[in-house]
Amino acid sequence: MTSTVGPPPYYENHGFQPENVYSARQPGANPYPQYFTTNAPSVPSYVPRVATYQSSRPVAHSSERTCASNVKKTIVIILSILLVICCAIAAFFIWYFVENRCLGSLIECGSSGVCMPPSQWCDGVSHCPNGEDETRCVRLFGPNFILEVYSPVSKSWYPVCQDDWNDDYGKIACKDMGYTVDTYYYSRGVATEVSFKSYMKLNTSAGNIDLYKKLYSSDSCASGNVVSLRCIECGLSTKNMNIMNRIVGGSGAALGQWPWQVSLHMQGIHVCGGSIITRQWIVTAAHCVEGRFSDPYSWRVYAGILNQNEMLLRNGYRVQQIISHPHYDTDSKDNDVALMKLEIPLSFTDTVRPVCLPNPGMMFQPNQQCWISGWGAEYQGGKTSNNLNYVTVPLIERSRCNSVYIYNGMILPTMICAGYLGGGIDSCQGDSGGPLVTNKNSVWWLVGDTSWGTGCASPNRPGVYGNMTVFTDWIYKNMQANR
Ligand code: ARG
Repeated sequence: MTSTVGPPPYYENHGFQPENVYSARQPGANPYPQYFTTNAPSVPSYVPRVATYQSSRPVAHSSERTCASNVKKTIVIILSILLVICCAIAAFFIWYFVENRCLGSLIECGSSGVCMPPSQWCDGVSHCPNGEDETRCVRLFGPNFILEVYSPVSKSWYPVCQDDWNDDYGKIACKDMGYTVDTYYYSRGVATEVSFKSYMKLNTSAGNIDLYKKLYSSDSCASGNVVSLRCIECGLSTKNMNIMNRIVGGSGAALGQWPWQVSLHMQGIHVCGGSIITRQWIVTAAHCVEGRFSDPYSWRVYAGILNQNEMLLRNGYRVQQIISHPHYDTDSKDNDVALMKLEIPLSFTDTVRPVCLPNPGMMFQPNQQCWISGWGAEYQGGKTSNNLNYVTVPLIERSRCNSVYIYNGMILPTMICAGYLGGGIDSCQGDSGGPLVTNKNSVWWLVGDTSWGTGCASPNRPGVYGNMTVFTDWIYKNMQANR
């Protein structure tokens, strides 16, 4: 069992950080020195040291000669100074447009070099070449799914006042996040939190214009309620389990207990696990779809089945598209997350249901109780299990997991450790890509995806999982762009 450390730190999901998106400034790249060293003129080389035609002149003319050469010298120096100034100005403009392509308050569309005024961002009309100005305008915040709207003018997020809000607006917001309307669940008013100082309110007299154009910021909200928006009924498990601590060291799951768990097959063999997040999208690990595993058409996805033998008798769902995190690193396992898009959407039942993606602003405590599930080996070096297993594992604080006697600095911000330092209970080969979930506010949240570990269930070598809270924004962006 793990021994607990002090209480304070928590895993905070800062979610979408607008600064990264709207600022084109790249840290560490200052073109100044480079520019000057290569292009600045070297003054002495322009000064003619010997005028060959003068060499035969008599010595008596020397004063006339020095006068002429002084004038020349001055001209050359002035020209050189002017050249340096011009170069500096040119360098400044090159730097400005390379680093910060849009002037003043204009916002760049992705990294396209196209600039837009803030008033055209989030106004319901796509102006950018790839529509970036309309993609990240809404988000759900915290464990209560509080709808927030981004204001490009004040560069911050505001909750939406419940006054005059209805399901039609809710559906628009869900669509803008990347969901399809057929899964829309509800919009509900919840009491505002003290931390909310400003709200977005609907101007109902604005007529039939875009939702975001109807919203204006206000310091008051008459109903005192803000919108809580659910775009999909996620995180529900039909089985109330009795938690047995008997994966490695786990116990057999019941049908419907982990309804988001899928088995990913290639050529009739279970390779990895995955989690259902919508009818069409599965979250898995990037290392599961690397190299020869990257072809979507060779995969089959099995949902709502506990037994591997039974899967072989079924067809499975075909995969249409695989999106691996662009910054996934094979060696360090940094950003070990990928998305699979199914050709035919799943039908949700008691045994096939989505898990909730963590919202920004959710906090997971160190030692928070989580669950892992999968068909992975039941002991180090063992073969894939025929039945779905699960076990409970506590989160381990990153700083502790990075200590010399555990993973010695290998745990990056995109990773999260969970398990027992005493060993004996862990995920193992074949569990990869599968879920690490927790229950909060009666909802099951996807905290991580099984990624790596040294051996399985060895002392001081806990399981390492992709830190889903840092991937949520990337996931929505891709769902939105590949509808
Ligand atoms: N990389 C493994 C897989 O592909 C998962 C390993 C998890 N290891 C662990 N000790 N928790 O299935």
